[in-house]
Amino acid sequence: MKVLLTGATGYIGRRLKEKLLDEDINLRVLARNPKSVRSDVEVVKGSTFDIHSLEKALEGVDVAYYLIHSLQEKNYRELDKISAQNFLNAAIKQKVKRIVYLGGLGVKEHASEHLRSRIETGEILSSRPDEIETVWIRAGVIIGSGSASFEIVRHLTEKLPVMVTPKWVNTLAQPIGVDDVVSYLAKAKDIALKKSVMVDIGSEIMSYKDMMLGCARALGLKRWIFPLPVLTIKLSSYWLNFFTPVPYNVAKSLIEGLSSEVIVQNDNAKRYFPDISPLSYEDAVKQAIREMEENQVLSRWSDAKGKEEEEFNNDISDALFLNRQTLPIKGVSKERLYRTFCAIGGDNGWFSYNWLWEIRGVMDKMIGGAGLNRGRRDPYNLRVGESLDFWRVEDIKVNERVLLRAQMKVPGKAWLEFKIQGDEFIQTAYFYPRGLLGRSYWYALTLIHYFVFPDMIHSIMNKAKQ
Ligand SMILES: NC(=O)c1ccc[n+]([C@@H]2O[C@H](COP(=O)([O-])OP(=O)(O)OC[C@H]3O[C@@H](n4cnc5c(N)ncnc54)[C@H](OP(=O)(O)O)[C@@H]3O)[C@@H](O)[C@H]2O)c1
Repeated sequence: MKVLLTGATGYIGRRLKEKLLDEDINLRVLARNPKSVRSDVEVVKGSTFDIHSLEKALEGVDVAYYLIHSLQEKNYRELDKISAQNFLNAAIKQKVKRIVYLGGLGVKEHASEHLRSRIETGEILSSRPDEIETVWIRAGVIIGSGSASFEIVRHLTEKLPVMVTPKWVNTLAQPIGVDDVVSYLAKAKDIALKKSVMVDIGSEIMSYKDMMLGCARALGLKRWIFPLPVLTIKLSSYWLNFFTPVPYNVAKSLIEGLSSEVIVQNDNAKRYFPDISPLSYEDAVKQAIREMEENQVLSRWSDAKGKEEEEFNNDISDALFLNRQTLPIKGVSKERLYRTFCAIGGDNGWFSYNWLWEIRGVMDKMIGGAGLNRGRRDPYNLRVGESLDFWRVEDIKVNERVLLRAQMKVPGKAWLEFKIQGDEFIQTAYFYPRGLLGRSYWYALTLIHYFVFPDMIHSIMNKAKQ
């Protein structure tokens, strides 16, 4: 069976790819940023907005997975309709037999803008049942290490013993563990079908308040929650932005979704997938915590790049400003030095003036950015494309180079590079300013750079020697 997977750099797609690679199928991936996909799979570079690449990716395919959304764009609802229509047309043209799509639970009339867009996508993908079958799987809150909903619940539960929350904490939902979602998706390509089908999946029905209390139990904590009717979506989004890793726009679309019930509307999960019994909520939470403790987090909500590769100008030689520090490599192996700078960020800190990085993180959060809370997926290893505090890993050359691209709110483009060249260790901060504000920003930081960057390179070297 030839299978095409889209969204393979995203939270669900990354995990599904690993599962599909274990199966006896011929897997191909469509990716806008092929560098973010491991090289053990056939990759077609392209996007659902580029018909040519889409048709090429779908050529000879039996089953195509659609795990895409444009949530990071302002006009995502319109874009998602076009994207789904392009996909459907190309799949029919290439005689694909089945599309498998994962959308969100919800009833269109009461759904938030985000959920409505997910429903519209499903409607488009299943709009020509005589020409192509569609398995439209719908999940609500997905519980797993690195999932946005779980990260929110976990951060709030861990940080706040007493919570005053908006009244939506009493809304009912039907969460499901990410491993179960991936099992349904993997099996969806094989099930016998007479027609297109919508399959709602979920574990037990519970309120968001119960989820937070269940998470507290799994973490061995005692928590008190008091719902208040006066907290608005905007205020709650700022609250989540500040106390959890999700930035304001993600928090807002999630909170809007939380005001309407997301529970299973049909029993097709049992009918078509009798072998799958979803884990209970608390077991899914425990499994997520275990993965985090054992550094086995496969994907995170912040993994998707959200843009075409071309929109990331990786040509750091364009930078107008730079701060370069160099040290000779003595008394330490290059491999060890590489491993040390690869471990930068997250709980390991920034090796120098951590309190200044913390302040920068808080400032970023205050203006709706990601701040430092995203941390690292793994304390030692990095992967191209993944987030690292308020950076994204742009390039890795093993035992040679790591290039980070700033994702904090900054008036321009900024990179931080660690490089081993010959017998030298070179650390460079690059900056391409946007207008006068960008230039003023760089000059305003001159004094801070004067202290931070030399200290940083020395700390990395010393740490490597230890
Ligand atoms: N995560 C959840 O908690 C959850 C819950 C319920 C349902 N779902 C559903 O599951 C599906 C996948 O969600 P996710 O959380 O895995 O999403 P995600 O992490 O945001 O990933 C989105 C993926 O889509 C790719 N993409 C976006 N636009 C594209 C385009 N025009 N052409 C090609 N690729 C494109 C992204 O690639 P880049 O890396 O290039 O940006 C990324 O790989 C969605 O339909 C979502 O509604 C998710």
